[in-house]
Amino acid sequence: MVIDKIAILDCGGQYTKVIDRKVRELAVKSEIFPLNVSVDILREYHGIILSGGPGSVWTDQPLTYDPQLFSLGIPVLGICYGMQLINQYFGGVVRPGVKTEYGETEIEVEPACPLFDGLDSKQRVLMSHGDSVAQIAPDLKVGARSGNVMAAVYHEERKVYGVQFHPEVDLTENGKVILTNFLWRICGLSGNYLLEDRIQTAIAKIKEKVKDEKILVLVSGGVDSAVSAALLLKALQPENVYAIHIDHGLMRKNESDIVCENLARLGIVHLLRENAAGQFFDSVVEASGKKIGPLTQLVDPEEKRNLIGEVFINVVRQTAARLNLDFDKTFWAQGTLRPDLIESGNPDVSSFAHRIKTHHNDVDIVRKAREKGLVVETNWDWHKDEVRQVARALGIDESIAARQPFPGPGLAIRVICNDGQYQISDAQSRLFEEVIGKVAQPYGYEGSVIPIRSVGVQGDCRSYRYLSVISGKGLAMEWDRVYNISKDIPNQTDFINRVAYVLNKSKLDGLLNCHPMYLNPENVELLREIDDLVVKKLNRKPVSQVFAVLLPVGITKKYSVAIRTIVTNDFMTGRPAFIGQDVSMDLIAELSRDIESKFSAIDLVLYDVTSKPPATVEWQ
Ligand code: XMP
Repeated sequence: MVIDKIAILDCGGQYTKVIDRKVRELAVKSEIFPLNVSVDILREYHGIILSGGPGSVWTDQPLTYDPQLFSLGIPVLGICYGMQLINQYFGGVVRPGVKTEYGETEIEVEPACPLFDGLDSKQRVLMSHGDSVAQIAPDLKVGARSGNVMAAVYHEERKVYGVQFHPEVDLTENGKVILTNFLWRICGLSGNYLLEDRIQTAIAKIKEKVKDEKILVLVSGGVDSAVSAALLLKALQPENVYAIHIDHGLMRKNESDIVCENLARLGIVHLLRENAAGQFFDSVVEASGKKIGPLTQLVDPEEKRNLIGEVFINVVRQTAARLNLDFDKTFWAQGTLRPDLIESGNPDVSSFAHRIKTHHNDVDIVRKAREKGLVVETNWDWHKDEVRQVARALGIDESIAARQPFPGPGLAIRVICNDGQYQISDAQSRLFEEVIGKVAQPYGYEGSVIPIRSVGVQGDCRSYRYLSVISGKGLAMEWDRVYNISKDIPNQTDFINRVAYVLNKSKLDGLLNCHPMYLNPENVELLREIDDLVVKKLNRKPVSQVFAVLLPVGITKKYSVAIRTIVTNDFMTGRPAFIGQDVSMDLIAELSRDIESKFSAIDLVLYDVTSKPPATVEWQ
């Protein structure tokens, strides 16, 4: 049988992986290539999608591509930059400043355009562009408009289509219908790339590589590594599979017990649980020629991550040695997913891979092992939501299949440490006061800027900036107003990327102090208990992930806690759960009171009101 497949040509867009996921959701195989891929490679594909991208087609150094791709007789869909490239190729003009659109926009579609078959003429879509079509190419027809701007163009005989908006993201209401029209109606595909067949392909690949050798698999308890272990068990002799669960002392409450019980049910013969908290807290390691550690003296989140990553490998080495396995010669499996392998330029996911950035599952030691052919990426063909479906298809318990993500470094990156090195400058204080005077005070809210930093993502780059704490009405807050403030502050300052609201006090009765704090088993234990309370209360739809963060901040007491919720499909972007809409104020009030009454060391109970971007899901 010929498998339906599409080539996605990457023009550098942040949503390229989302296009890949959406195409696969429609049971069509997709592969990602750089835009300048040779047309000889493209001939075997049934359709081509040109992604969006940050560049401009009108510059004197535009991205290069082989123009023959429009003459192959293979249908083409250009998205955003891709549409502009189509318009330029056919002789039209693209310019900046015709109309800039960022966000949800209403467009008017042309019913005759096959892309919009079955849809009403008015559609809500996500636009994100500075350049626009200033003059449509003579042979192209208008497929849709957003006011006076072209929102879609097409050439029916050549089967070339372009959309200025992003049909691949959830904010485009009927994006899936539009992609289905392209794949099924225009490319003539039927969707025969089915999950069950893909599971069988994954199993066959593992068999072919590992044969009857022994293999190690690290199982954290998350869905990715559980699927990895389950596939190994299906493909290999179960007695050749050694599953190792490392409890680094940074897991959530009772997590290692639950994880091991669930994994035992998968039929794992060798399940080794390593209780290695001591080693994680006490070790000093060398990474990139620098000594890092111990964990109890680190503030920088990257250093915490590096140290924990190194100790992980050391513990696995020791475990392998106990099993009489030579770690440097033994196969090991990882549950890394397709989006991360795409970014790492991994040859398993694309025959024409190119590196976008190095992922944490692709660090030095992994790369060396991969060169020796020892790393088995069992989940190479799946995105996050697919791996959950695979888990269910493999009969994995729902408690694992639906498990919230939990980062490898665990609670270590949720205890925010501080050595007092950051100071807010006078200029920053003045600007902050000015901004608060405009965006918060007129509505009855006050704000402080706190010299602890957390990670964010702004303008496609990582940021590491200060926190702003907003107060004023306690539990009587108006969600929409506070959420707007959370957008205004990062937009109007260049040193804040996260905003949290004080739930348990209307007025702050003193100055907020930020004192030195390092990780230790006691504060991890405190966070573990609070987190358990928070998760039990708020882990419900539509919340995709919820957890607590411990902060070295207080007026009279030592700590404050922040509740982080996120609503998202793909974790690339997301928003907090809206109080009063996604979660009731009564529930939040009850949680806030419970935290205050049960944990006497906690001063402020905060709610992280920031979206991603500008913040990230995790604080570190
Ligand atoms: P960010 O903080 O980047 O997180 O917005 C997106 C999602 O990834 C999870 N995350 C991790 N998962 N190892 C993991 O396995 C990590 O080091 C890691 N860091 C972040 C995070 O919890 C969220 O679901």
